[in-house]
Amino acid sequence: MAETTKTADPCVMVIFGATGDLTKRKLLPALYNLARQDFLPHSFAIVGVGRQEMTTEAFRAQMTQHLEEFVQTLSAGTQAASLQKKEKDKRASRQRSDDRLIKWLLERTYYTGGDFDDDKKLFSDLKELLGEITATHQIPDNYFFYMATPPDLFANVTQKVVKNGLGKEENGNWRRFVYEKPFGTDLTSAEALNQKLLRLIKERQIYRIDHYLGKETVQNILVFRFGNSIFEPIWNRNFVDHVQITVAETLGVEQRGGYYDSAGALRDMIPNHILQLVTLTAMEPPVSFDADPVRDEQAKILQAIQPFSPEDVLQCAVRGQYGEGEIGGTAVPAYRDEERVAPASNTETFAALNLSIDNWRWADVPFYVRTGKRLSTRHSSIVIQFKKAPFMLFRETGIERLTTNRIVIHIQPDEGITLHFGAKIPGPVVNMGPVDMDFNYLDHFGEQVSTGYERLLYDCMIGDATLFQRADMVEAGWRIVQPVIDVWKALPARDFPNYAAGSWGPAEADAFMTADGRRWINELK
Ligand code: BG6
Repeated sequence: MAETTKTADPCVMVIFGATGDLTKRKLLPALYNLARQDFLPHSFAIVGVGRQEMTTEAFRAQMTQHLEEFVQTLSAGTQAASLQKKEKDKRASRQRSDDRLIKWLLERTYYTGGDFDDDKKLFSDLKELLGEITATHQIPDNYFFYMATPPDLFANVTQKVVKNGLGKEENGNWRRFVYEKPFGTDLTSAEALNQKLLRLIKERQIYRIDHYLGKETVQNILVFRFGNSIFEPIWNRNFVDHVQITVAETLGVEQRGGYYDSAGALRDMIPNHILQLVTLTAMEPPVSFDADPVRDEQAKILQAIQPFSPEDVLQCAVRGQYGEGEIGGTAVPAYRDEERVAPASNTETFAALNLSIDNWRWADVPFYVRTGKRLSTRHSSIVIQFKKAPFMLFRETGIERLTTNRIVIHIQPDEGITLHFGAKIPGPVVNMGPVDMDFNYLDHFGEQVSTGYERLLYDCMIGDATLFQRADMVEAGWRIVQPVIDVWKALPARDFPNYAAGSWGPAEADAFMTADGRRWINELK
């Protein structure tokens, strides 16, 4: 991971799929935030590429609208606190500088449209445009191509970029290629995609994005573990009883029914986002924060996760699909009634796995992971549950049960860390109650405006691949879930829908914890 003071190289960012959702919701706001923090190079340009024919002026007009709609401002609470004149002046001057920033970005944004399947026209237009832009803005030929397209176009677009001579690194200039998830739909397709790309470009030119690694709290896992001396000595099988990782969403599939119905919760979240959380929680300290040492340690965890046999899948994996229900007092439809979802769909919207990491540090410490749509509360967290203290000292007291200690890393929406422990309840008799020590990002560092993509785009511009997935890691992720995909395909679920929207998932997911004498911790502060 690089020092954040490094200036990004002058470059052009080419976005394939520039009229899509990701560009407007994430990429443009992230570029704007980077510009605001002065992290973009002064010689910089953006080229949007899309299927739609559109002039650069029309694209700039769209971009202005998107920036107005999707750039986050500080929350109302923060605004309410700043009614003072001085604050108002500051805000007015910020507004002026924001307008200047938008103008700066627009001046260096271009568009070219056409058919992605056409070998010649679009890509030779792009090449010509890049030539003009680099001359106008005095940018060396450093390009990064961002594939914000449907995944089935990744290889095809890359091949055309390369065929038109745009992929070759010459005279000290770089060419990088960024791929959004999903990277493949299973192990075979991920391997095939890697092979295709690696025939065209080099691994060091490839940046496979997992947006979870752009989250501050996710990056903080390593700083928390390895930048402090008090946690690491207890971060192992001698002290930890189990780990539970939850990524719970209250949203349904929104407008993405088409994609989601062929993917499902397992593919959508586990080989990528959730396994990132597992590896960062479980990995050994790397020898440095450079890309390969960090990724080598993550890869070792992926290799140490025990492959499931078909019998294991029946024991260690749970799937669910939501029926209708209520979330936050509002009735919501069943998954099968969502737009672009098959009426008899057997796609899971909830998945839970019990993973075993077979290495010296974690042998016999289960890692329970779960994710689902339309669950009770939106929260993503990592719970490190420690072993119980021996009870004998308290036999003669009013204490019946000792509080189990846990460290909770809150990833979202609240960002912070909680230490949960027992304390004496004041009074003449010895009694114990659970208490929490809380660290909250907002209280300490104030509100940060971020889409989660800023860091990743910046890292791509400085050539730091630490937070990106290597080919072997993507394949290892798929290898872990492949037996589950296969068994679930061979034995379609008969009980779907098996959880109500607004609940914590299917009863089976609770049962597979209670069978081990444990329970999911749902009520996190
Ligand atoms: C995406 C999944 O990768 O991550 C979505 O495709 C999911 O289904 C999203 O909703 C969750 O991201 P976040 O940042 O909101 O936790």
